[in-house]
Amino acid sequence: MNAVDKPFSQACENNKGPILKVLLSAFAPSRRVLEIGSGTGQHAVYFAAALPRLVWQPTDRAEYLAGIQQWLDDYLGHNMAPLRALDVMDTDWPSDFDAVFTANTLHIMPWSSAQHLIAEVGRRLPEFGMFAVYGPFNEGGEYTSPSNREFDQWLKSRAAHQGIRDREAVVSCAQHAGMALIRAHALPANNQLLVFHKAPASQPAHST
Ligand SMILES: C[S@@+](CC[C@H](N)C(=O)[O-])C[C@H]1O[C@@H](n2cnc3c(N)ncnc32)[C@H](O)[C@@H]1O
Repeated sequence: MNAVDKPFSQACENNKGPILKVLLSAFAPSRRVLEIGSGTGQHAVYFAAALPRLVWQPTDRAEYLAGIQQWLDDYLGHNMAPLRALDVMDTDWPSDFDAVFTANTLHIMPWSSAQHLIAEVGRRLPEFGMFAVYGPFNEGGEYTSPSNREFDQWLKSRAAHQGIRDREAVVSCAQHAGMALIRAHALPANNQLLVFHKAPASQPAHST
């Protein structure tokens, strides 16, 4: 395979720099990151190279693995864990992580699966573990831009279970799962990076 055979997302190229600026501080206390829905694999190689102190664990559903592996095959660093299959509805998740990153997944999977993802992350993260979720979100039941409205309509025309999620609903699920929102970072193209941490058992997971 040569480079042109790799899956490629222009959106990933555009958003990886702004996301990294946040992850540099958000994942500063972290050691091992589980990425859910690695997609093309571009984020995995970019973030692993830029955050060499961390071990990056890429995962995705089985049909994505061959494409992601092409990016991993060209990765020269030593901090990439072997790619593995993970559908969030699986019971067998990787066991050793203290941070989770997922981009553009919550609006693709059914809302019930997104709720399950958040619940499992909250259940499996250690205290003070970090959870970073990137994507478009609605606020107060409203689209945050005309382009997000069009995107949501396009998603729903493709698959009825897809659609932009309400930020409040995501934050509420996370709180029920023991995670508190540290900050919602506004990023380019009307996307956001929501950063949570797993609150210690003695503290309620309300936003700070
Ligand atoms: C739009 S792509 C985003 C890929 C990549 N993270 C990015 O930002 O370009 C959506 C991703 O969500 C993943 N996904 C959808 N449902 C999933 C599930 N139930 N479990 C794990 N991943 C899922 C897909 O396999 C795909 O990789």
